[in-house]
This record gives sequence, structure tokens and C-alpha cells, in this order.
Amino acid sequence: MTPIKAVYFSALASFLACGALAQTAPQYGQCGGTGWTGPTTCPANFACTAVSPPWYSQCLPGTATTTATTTATTTSGSTSPVGSGSPTSSSTSTAPSGSATLAPGYSFVRSVEAPTFHQYLESQVLGKASPAVVGDYTAAAQFQVVNGQLIQNAAGTNLYAVVQPPANSTVTKLGVSWSATPDTLGTFVFSGDSLEWSSPSVVRQQTNAWLVCPNGTAMLVFINLGAYDYMTPAGCSDTTLNAYTGATAVP
Ligand SMILES: *[C@@H]1O[C@H](CO)[C@@H](O)[C@H](O)[C@H]1NC(C)=O
Ligand SMILES: *[C@@H]1O[C@H](CO)[C@@H](O)[C@H](O)[C@H]1NC(C)=O
Repeated sequence: MTPIKAVYFSALASFLACGALAQTAPQYGQCGGTGWTGPTTCPANFACTAVSPPWYSQCLPGTATTTATTTATTTSGSTSPVGSGSPTSSSTSTAPSGSATLAPGYSFVRSVEAPTFHQYLESQVLGKASPAVVGDYTAAAQFQVVNGQLIQNAAGTNLYAVVQPPANSTVTKLGVSWSATPDTLGTFVFSGDSLEWSSPSVVRQQTNAWLVCPNGTAMLVFINLGAYDYMTPAGCSDTTLNAYTGATAVP
């Protein structure tokens, strides 16, 4: 780890430590779910929503919804700790820590380098068309690569990873977001367990080079057009994204 990265990681660690003490979860932050011990209230105009019950609840715009299925949803109001605390009627006394069970033919995808080691690929707004981020294992999404498309299984609906075309030749990283319509720029592939992307119209030095760049509390995922670990954009960190096919996502 270079000194610059060490400073960044230390700053991030302090930030996270402070965040854990906060009473209110950040916008789009986790606010409940299996094993969650952090804040369970959301900022104004955000509601704690059980997006992947019982494992994960997230602060989403709006007021409390009825999407949750856990017993905790019987409480109402925008600050109820949906999905946290009370055990569900179906769970055993030894609730496993982990995510939804991996569907046949799918993989989890996770970062393997600090400071996002074993953070999992998902949508910023869980299961919805929104920017690609890496986040907690309890919210890990599931993926297939079919005909060059990276497809997220969003509760039975396909979300495609769409790569933002470079605006000009000085651009060094490309944003990735989830969309109901397929990508038209390039081709995703698993090479071994490593997720790669290439395009006939985009010059890349390494097809498996990814960047994670924080935007507020979101850890946004980018395609790195430069060489791995060389001239990393300020605030970003280099990583590769690798398939993980354990039964559930693990830290
Ligand atoms: C290239 O595109 C980026 C991103 O849109 C922009 O910030 C930058 O100013 C552009 N540079 C040139 C030389 O056009
Ligand atoms: C980054 O955060 C700002 C402020 O919340 C937001 O307006 C912007 O859309 C975010 N960018 C991405 C790519 O999510």
C-alpha cells in the first residue's frame, strides 16, 4: 500500500467509525436487516425500506412503503427500523449472517482489494436502475453474463450493466449503471472468475481494471481506462471484480 493510499484508507476508516456512531443512517445507507447494529432511522424525506427482507433495509426517498415482509413492518412512520430487531416468524434462532441464497447459474461479484475488499457489486438503489456500486455483503446482488451483457437478477427482472461512453479522449474512467435496456458499447465476460469489459470503440490498457470512487457514502464503480494501479484518479482506488459462487455472500 502506498503512503497516499494508507492516508486515504485511514481517513475512510475514521469516516466509517464516525458514521457508525451517528443516530441517522445516510441517504441510501443501510438502516436494518439481519445482523445490523447500526442506525435504524433515515434522513428527512427518506424511509427505511426492506429492499431485500430480511437481510437488508435501505434509506430510500419517500415515506415508508409496504414492500417489507418482516414483522417489524407493522409499525408505521418514516423512521421505523424496518427489517431490524424483531425476528421474522420464519427465521430460526440461529439466523445465518449472509445474503440471499445464490440462484443456480448466477454469481455474486465482489471487489478484492482494500479499501473495498469483499464489498459486493449491487445497485445504489437496491435492485433498481441506478448507479453501480460496491457495498455490504448483506445486499449482494446476483449476476450472469449472457451474450456479452452483465445481467443483474433484480427479483426476477433483468437489469443490464450499461457503460457510459467516453465524452472525449482525455477521460480516464467510465461510469457504470443498471438499466432495463442492454448495453450497446461493449462486451462483458468472465475470464476465469475475473469480470472484464472491452469495446471496439474504447481503448483500454487492461480489460480487468476497475476503479471504486466514493460519492458521498456511495462507492461508485468505474471502468478504468488506464493501467491497473497507475495514475489512479484522486479519491479512487484500484480493484478487480471477481465472481464468488458460495451459497451466500460472506464478508
Ligand atoms: C472531456 O470530458 C470530461 C467529462 O465530460 C470533461 O470534464 C472535460 O472537460 C472534457 N475535456 C475536454 C478537453 O473536452
Ligand atoms: C454524486 O452525488 C451527488 C450529490 O448527492 C449527486 O447529485 C450525483 O448524481 C452523484 N453522482 C452519481 C454518479 O451518482
